[in-house]
Parts: sequence; structure tokens; C-alpha cells
Amino acid sequence: MDRNLRPMFAVTVVTLLLGCAPSLESGEGGEGTPVAGRWYSVEQVHTGSRVFHDECAQCHGAQAQGITADWRERLDDGSLPPPPLNGSAHAWHHPLSVLLQVINQGGVPLGGQMPAFANRISDKEKLAAIAYFQSFWNDDLYGNWEQMGGTE
Ligand code: HEC
Repeated sequence: MDRNLRPMFAVTVVTLLLGCAPSLESGEGGEGTPVAGRWYSVEQVHTGSRVFHDECAQCHGAQAQGITADWRERLDDGSLPPPPLNGSAHAWHHPLSVLLQVINQGGVPLGGQMPAFANRISDKEKLAAIAYFQSFWNDDLYGNWEQMGGTE
């Protein structure tokens, strides 16, 4: 039985795994050095840290940890305290679009206390503030957020 010896071509496929951050439709996301597995960049977290300290920390805490022992317990005036945004409350239930909406409108339309930021800071700063508080979320929580809609 004849044996056809076919030349073997070694095909080397070089796959370049480029760390592409999923960019948002607004074109605001993924600028700069991407944080692995996240929609935002290292630079956005840095910007967000400044924005958060200037605009949000007095209510939500410098590390987004909240400022009361229990965010579910109403204050003396009957209002709910600012919740932590570091993943320990339920900010992760809201996709990016809803988080942006809360920041734009504040809580007042829903009977809450948070001021509206629509005209106080730029959209870039709002996204950066979100990147900052999401940087406190561990990967499990971030994964849950993606399942709840994430950047959709
Ligand atoms: C004057 C206090 C105050 C400031 C300043 C403030 N917040 Fe809030 N925030 C609240 C309160 C109180 C709530 C709960 C809803 C309500 O009562 O309005 C809230 C709710 C939220 C929520 C929804 C959280 C959830 O679990 O549903 C997000 C997101 C948020 N704030 C982000 C921000 C960001 C980002 C900034 C800064 C740009 C900011 N907040 C500044 C008081 C504040």
C-alpha cells in the first residue's frame, strides 16, 4: 500500500491579544489604559477620584462606603441616607444608563435628597465618578452587574 507523504506545513498563527476595552456608544469609555475586564480606564478612575472627592464624598463617603452605619435606616427627617456605592448596597443593580440618570436627575424626582448633577459636571466627569466607585467592586460583583445589564 502506497503511502502519500504529504508535506506538512507548519502554519504559525500569531494571535495578538490586544487589550481592547469595550467602548461605549457615547465614545467616552475605554479612553487610555484599560482596566482588565472593565469598561473604564485607569485614567478615568483617577479623574473620577477627583470628581468624587469634590462632588460626592461628603454624602457617599471618600471611599464610597457611605456615611451612616446602616444605609437602610431612615434619618430623623424620614429620608433615606446616601447609600454606599462601593458595592455593599445596591448600586450594582443598575446598568450604566440608570446610574447616569440618577446622577443627572438626583433623587428629588423620586422624593429623595440627592441633588441633580446634569448641569453641574460634564458627562465625562459623571462617567469617571462611576468608574471610581466601581473600582471598589470586586470581580464577582462586577460580573453580577454585567448580568444585570452593565454597560448595555
Ligand atoms: C447631598 C448629598 C449627596 C450628594 C452630594 C451626592 N449624592 Fe448620590 N445619593 C444621595 C442620596 C440621599 C441618595 C439616595 C436617593 C435619594 O435620597 O436621593 C443617593 C443615591 C445615589 C445613587 C443611587 C444608588 C443606588 O444604590 O441606587 C448613585 C449612583 C449616586 N447617588 C451617585 C452619586 C454621585 C456619583 C455623586 C457625585 C457626582 C453623588 N451621588 C452626590 C445623596 C447625595
